[in-house]
Order: sequence, then C-alpha cells, then structure tokens
Amino acid sequence: MPVQPIIGISPMDGYTNIAMRLITFKYNKLLNTGFTEFANVEGIFKAPEVSLKLLYTSSKEYKNNRKVIAQVFGNSKQLEYFTKASALIKFLGFSGIDLNTGCPYKNIISSKAGSFLICKKKMLKSIINAIYKGVENCNIIIKQLQPFNKQYIIPKTKLLPIWDTASINNCNKNNFTISIKTRLGRKRLANPQWWKFLDKLNVSFVTIHTRTVVQGYSETAKWNKLLYIKKYFETTPIIGNGDIKTKNDIQNKLKITPTGVLIGRGLIGNPTPTTSKNLQEALSLLKEHLHLALIYFPELKNYIAPFKKFVPGYLSNIPYSKNLKQQLLLARNYKEFIQLL
Ligand SMILES: Cc1cc2nc3c(=O)[nH]c(=O)nc-3n(C[C@H](O)[C@H](O)[C@H](O)COP(=O)(O)O)c2cc1C
Repeated sequence: MPVQPIIGISPMDGYTNIAMRLITFKYNKLLNTGFTEFANVEGIFKAPEVSLKLLYTSSKEYKNNRKVIAQVFGNSKQLEYFTKASALIKFLGFSGIDLNTGCPYKNIISSKAGSFLICKKKMLKSIINAIYKGVENCNIIIKQLQPFNKQYIIPKTKLLPIWDTASINNCNKNNFTISIKTRLGRKRLANPQWWKFLDKLNVSFVTIHTRTVVQGYSETAKWNKLLYIKKYFETTPIIGNGDIKTKNDIQNKLKITPTGVLIGRGLIGNPTPTTSKNLQEALSLLKEHLHLALIYFPELKNYIAPFKKFVPGYLSNIPYSKNLKQQLLLARNYKEFIQLL
C-alpha cells in the first residue's frame, strides 16, 4: 500500500492544544497528523501544572489512523530531561516526539534552545541521543518516575483526569517517530554540511519551515530553497512548511516534499477546509471550539483571555463581523464573552 503523505497541523505555541486539534481534525479530513505546542522538557517535570497542559491528548484524536506528535524544546544542558520527557511522551500515547530547532523568540534563543541549535552539530547530536535513550527505555524510565506518575499521570486522578487509558494504550509504540523541525537557516540558508549532518542523524523526518530565523513569520515562504536542500537528504525524508492555505497549495507543495506538508496559521480559527463561511457558521464553530476548550481547560471560565486569540481567525473575512469581533475582544470575562455569541 502506498504510504500516505503527512498533512499536518503545524505546532503553534498558544494555539495547537487538544481543543484546536480535535475541532480541526473533526472538520478537515485532509489532515492526518497534529503537533502539540512546544513544551520545555525541564518544565514538564518542574512546573507540571503548566507544562503538562501542553501535552493533553485523548484517544479521540487517534481515530482514523491519525497521529499526534508532541513537540519539545530545550538545550544541551537538559539532556536528562530530554530522556525523561521522551519516555513520558511515548507512555502518554503520542505517535512521536519532535524537537524544535526553529523558534525565533529571543528568550528561547538566549536559553540556547530553539533556533539557537541550527548548525550546532554537537549539541543537537547529544539531544537526539538523549531522546533516543528515553524512547528506547520508556518502560524502565516510567517506573522510575512513579512518584511523579502517581501524582500527575495515572488516569482518572483528581488532579488531572485528562489522559485516558485508551490513549495511553492507543498508539503503535513500535512506530513511534523521532523528528526535528527547523528553518532554512539563521540569517541565510544554512550550508550543505548542516543538511548532510541532519540527513545522517537517523531521525524519522525533518520538517523545514521555509523561512530563516530573522525572517520570523513575515515575507513569503521560500519553497524554492527546498529544491536545493533536498539534494542533501539521501536517507531522511523532509516535510515542507510555510504559507499553505488551500487544498491546491497542499497539492502543489507535495510535489516538492512528497513526504508531507505542515499547515500553520491557515488553520487558526479555520478548522474547515473552506474559508468561505457566513457569520452564523463561523460563530457556531467558535462556540464548538470554546466548548471543547472548556472541557480540557475549565480555568477559561475564570480567565477567558487565552481563548480570545482565536476570535480574529474565526471572524476574518466574515461580512458584518467587525463590531462583534471588537466586542468579543473587549469582553471582560467569560460571562460577557459567551453572552455575545
Ligand atoms: C503563533 C505561532 C506559534 C508558533 N509556535 C511554534 C511552536 O511552538 N513550535 C514550532 O515548531 N513552530 C511554531 N510556529 C511556527 C509554525 O509551526 C510554522 O512553522 C509557521 O507558522 C509557518 O507556517 P505557516 O506559514 O503555515 O503559518 C509558530 C507559529 C506561530 C504563528
């Protein structure tokens, strides 16, 4: 049987949590993979009440052979945490772990994580080895994590009754992937040695966001650079990412990276494949998204702000929605917000 290309929800900090993935998977059947927001490997253990929320997953996500990959970040001084986090992520039922080496945020770069790792061969190699160690020794490490485990992970605890046993038993642990997401380079395209090094790292795939770090998220994504980079990948498949919005875009870009493509901002507030909606349809989706978000993040009832960032996406290009958008963004609390919907 031919292998289906990966058509995935790109990891987006503050957005691609379980609620966004579930609503997007429900309405967009083209998508077969989703990435979590990035979680700091040390934070998962030192501030679990915050970081574990980034790793909420459910067996509902894995229906129809869909895959969910947890993304992590950290530096080469946090190897022990990379190992523990990888074991935990495998244990929780995810389909794979992805290392962020593309984040352009200053605070992440100054901690020697994210895009700081571009062209840092030794550091990257040590991190990938630490991840392998965690994945290969998952069962042993999970047993060692028991105190942590009891408090936070065992399903149906009062603290975080999020992970269900079905999701924990769900994924085919033998197909667990280890992958990397990166950018074209820092200021300009990275050199051939770097791409050859990535090719030989023995990871399942490398996703390349077709912008440099200094380009951030502006300027048009430079897909033509992948035609050049591709030459250096002899064994590891690459996945392309940047500026994909429509089904046509997906088809065109798969000609460049047949292994797969990831879609980012085009999916924010837009879980359906079509962008032409009327106000009623957009609000109905927004409400459904909010309903899902409240199941996993009930604290939104006390502080609605983190959800408001989806509003512009849902109401963009919707005729006569400008006033409502403003009012929703100005809502002072959950009650005011929900009354407007
Ligand atoms: C708000 C926001 C948050 C993001 N967070 C992450 C992240 O946590 N990890 C990551 O690898 N990329 C992150 N990205 C980058 C996206 O995954 C993607 O590579 C980028 O947006 C380009 O794709 P697009 O043009 O389809 O949006 C983020 C992008 C945005 C806009």
